[in-house]
Amino acid sequence: MRQKYVVGNWKLNGSLPGNEALLQAVLAGVSPKPGCHLAVCVPAPYLAQVRGLLEGTPVAWGGQDVSRFEKGAYTGDVSGAMLREFGATYSIVGHSERRTVFGDTDAVVAEKYAAARKAGLVPIFCVGESLAEREQGVTETVLARQLDAVLEKSGPAALDGGIVAYEPVWAIGTGRTATAAQAQQAHAYLRGRVATKDAAVAARLPILYGGSVKGANAAELFAMPDVDGGLIGGASLVAEDFLAIWRAAVAAA
Ligand code: PGA
Repeated sequence: MRQKYVVGNWKLNGSLPGNEALLQAVLAGVSPKPGCHLAVCVPAPYLAQVRGLLEGTPVAWGGQDVSRFEKGAYTGDVSGAMLREFGATYSIVGHSERRTVFGDTDAVVAEKYAAARKAGLVPIFCVGESLAEREQGVTETVLARQLDAVLEKSGPAALDGGIVAYEPVWAIGTGRTATAAQAQQAHAYLRGRVATKDAAVAARLPILYGGSVKGANAAELFAMPDVDGGLIGGASLVAEDFLAIWRAAVAAA
């Protein structure tokens, strides 16, 4: 059986005292659970602080994006090696906000995925359709295009050790969660598409759901056979909400 993951995505939120209070409250409610992974993806300037607070605890940490370059004249970028130097296990890659606000194309996302793997990070590779795309009935076409960019650049073996996150753009930060059935359908589609290239990799691949996950809907989502946990935005900023989602993952494991 696949393992469960609950990963917080703090986005552009945080402060030194606020991060400490949040993580202390999370740590107070977490005990290690075999087969379940808990992590937070934080703004890069807080990596040192977060490492100091989380090292030796059951909570791992990661970045929210990674440069497609290793080093050089790329002002503003943060490399995978830099994230690793601060103990990051994960990096989000291809979040819809990077795609829509910062212009990351499928090709750029594929390069970032490869860079994250090369640096020894576990990429959390986000895919998902917009509301207009869902209403036009092209959800699967969009998911295929986004997934294939990585499959074609890095090959199916590169998904082994990575994580996919299905995040319908219309559900992110909107309070409008995909139904468990909608999530399951998209996850099964993604797994099936990977399986056409490598069935064993597809069977092992963790696929997380993201988009307005809360304590109240997590259990239903995580009960779906192809939903292996969640990528959590807003609710990861409130310890009690984040812990409720963690407990749902532990119960589903
Ligand atoms: P949300 O964000 O939980 O606030 O909808 C999820 C995400 O963007 O990863």
